[in-house]
Amino acid sequence: MHPVDSAAIERAARILARGGLVAFPTETVYGLGADADDEAAVRAIFAAKGRPADHPVIVHVLEAAALDAWAREVPESARRLAATFWPGPLTLVLKRSPRAKDVVTGGQDTVGLRSPAHPWARALLAAFAGADRTKAIVAPSANSFGRISPTTVAHVRADLGEKPAGKVDLILDGGACPVGIESTIVDLSTGTPRLLRPGIVTRGELEAVLGVPVPDAERDAPRASGRLESHYAPRTPLELVDPAQFAARINALRGHRLAVLAPPQALLDRTRDVVLRLIAPAQPADYARRLYALLHELDAAGAERILVVRPPFGPAWEAVHDRLRRAQSGG
Ligand code: TXA
Ligand code: MG
Repeated sequence: MHPVDSAAIERAARILARGGLVAFPTETVYGLGADADDEAAVRAIFAAKGRPADHPVIVHVLEAAALDAWAREVPESARRLAATFWPGPLTLVLKRSPRAKDVVTGGQDTVGLRSPAHPWARALLAAFAGADRTKAIVAPSANSFGRISPTTVAHVRADLGEKPAGKVDLILDGGACPVGIESTIVDLSTGTPRLLRPGIVTRGELEAVLGVPVPDAERDAPRASGRLESHYAPRTPLELVDPAQFAARINALRGHRLAVLAPPQALLDRTRDVVLRLIAPAQPADYARRLYALLHELDAAGAERILVVRPPFGPAWEAVHDRLRRAQSGG
């Protein structure tokens, strides 16, 4: 991680204060930030991403005390989860207060809130908030709608870019994101907590704190764009392959240029059709941290198809499977 550049942070806070857009690192992925109280600035985020207006954005706050400014009901469950996992990669969906405008919530009666842990994100929030600790930055991932989320500054530059040629007023370079996939989202706006998006904070960890099961959201639950089937997708068609089928699949695709992500033992085959071979990390946290950078690299290989060997199953792998599934159906 790069040391926090306080001059750059001050500049970024001034840009936010006058309604501009700043891309900044969080522990999960890079976010595209704007002042959460400035409707025109929030609209500019949607324009920059090409994102449909009915998709809510996450409100990033410094501390749990800000929950009461942005949510009109803060259940005990929310306070417990915030006390345990904040600052960190967990987003809480709560009934919104009037401060959370339609442009932020996508017109829904709920708001997503998260307090990020990354030192650059916290420095930016602190500089921007000043004396009013309830001030917040809305930030979706800093990528064009439907594309792979960015975990490095190079990803943000290649996609949205900086003005005047690009769309963002300032891109802060805090190095590669240590978690690598988006925050876990849990909906606490009804009587039953529900998982809207799996992440590095696992379902099991939420259940341990809440003392109740946390089932998936039903189909008619508040929409999370992360739940759309085709999302986080490379441009090259991506296919998930079971480990036992991998060699046969490579054979069946003879003559096609392939880029593959597989465990080392599966990469011994030296067929010329494989133009890029990347080694799949063996541990779930490493896999998550590197997943989007690997997908960006596979996508840039000039292959006709990307093959990814399905990783192991188990609770710690849930979020990785979720993102790979979406990358596949977008292909
Ligand atoms: O880790 C993250 O959450 C990153 C970093 C930048 O903080 N942000 C992120 O934002 O992933 P985005 O916009 O790419 O994804 C946010 C997800 C979307 O799927 C959105 O629909 C959902 O959060 N969301 C936000 N507010 C919601 C609400 N009130 N109800 C249901 N889903 C909500
Ligand atoms: Mg996103």
